[in-house]
Amino acid sequence: MTAPGRLAALDGALALLACPVCLGPLDREGSTLRCQEGHAFDVARQGYAALATGATVPGDTAAMVRDRAAFLAAGHYAPITEAVVAAVQEDARRIADLASGPGTYLAAVLEHRHGARGVALDASAPAIRLAAAAHPRAAAATADLRTRIPLATGSIDAALVVFGPRHGGELDRVLAPDGVVVVVIPEAAHLTELRGPFGTLAVGADKGARLQQRMLPLRPVADDRITARRTLSPEDVARVVLMGPSGHHLDHDDVRRRAAEQGPVAVTVDVRVLRFAR
Ligand SMILES: C[S@@+](CC[C@H](N)C(=O)[O-])C[C@H]1O[C@@H](n2cnc3c(N)ncnc32)[C@H](O)[C@@H]1O
Ligand SMILES: [Zn+2]
Repeated sequence: MTAPGRLAALDGALALLACPVCLGPLDREGSTLRCQEGHAFDVARQGYAALATGATVPGDTAAMVRDRAAFLAAGHYAPITEAVVAAVQEDARRIADLASGPGTYLAAVLEHRHGARGVALDASAPAIRLAAAAHPRAAAATADLRTRIPLATGSIDAALVVFGPRHGGELDRVLAPDGVVVVVIPEAAHLTELRGPFGTLAVGADKGARLQQRMLPLRPVADDRITARRTLSPEDVARVVLMGPSGHHLDHDDVRRRAAEQGPVAVTVDVRVLRFAR
């Protein structure tokens, strides 16, 4: 049984979604979404739509998603959440969270923009299951964002891309005339304390320049640096290591054991929150 509230959220956001094959509008018939060309997509029991069409999509695993949800719930990234909420226009009504993970940032924005509706999209089904339950006004769908974003042209007032893949051409297509994209990227010092002990990836020196290239034809209109110091428990050290790309290849039990041996660690949060517009 699909929770009725989640189907209501999906129906409420249906005008924002588009067929991932032909970009036509979608209608819901029971547990199927269908476009006029006859492309059909399942609505899962948990109330999210399955719009990822490729054979293999590169989403986070269930274990990574659990670690991400728990780490974010602990509040260590609260300054990032606050900056993302502040970067969304006060009158934004249609909000998309792209590569949403568990939908934590979308839920925070919807909490502060009464009457707004949201859609979370991510390749990972475990992430989208959580995103579908993240907020009563949030709908969720699995989607492979490497090619097309399954959102209607000109339908989105604010798109969030927090530590996710970015594609300016498609973002430009889905944005409403005064729409903005809020992008969060890590800066050089972000979680640098964990690199030596756990071998997490360094941030590329030219990340900012590459971001501007990838976001074209959209242009940056605001750029804020957020820095903070946090002391992480061993559990949260392991979670933040394993929720990122390293979670795909490191031995999870080994990371947890080493984090426990090391005890609490003071880390730097260092990110940029940018707004892009036409
Ligand atoms: C670093 S996580 C960020 C998640 C979330 N925005 C957050 O900050 O909590 C990157 C996310 O991108 C998703 N992802 C990676 N490649 C993707 C793709 N091609 N299409 C859609 N989502 C993708 C992963 O499943 C993962 O949830
Ligand atoms: Zn179609």
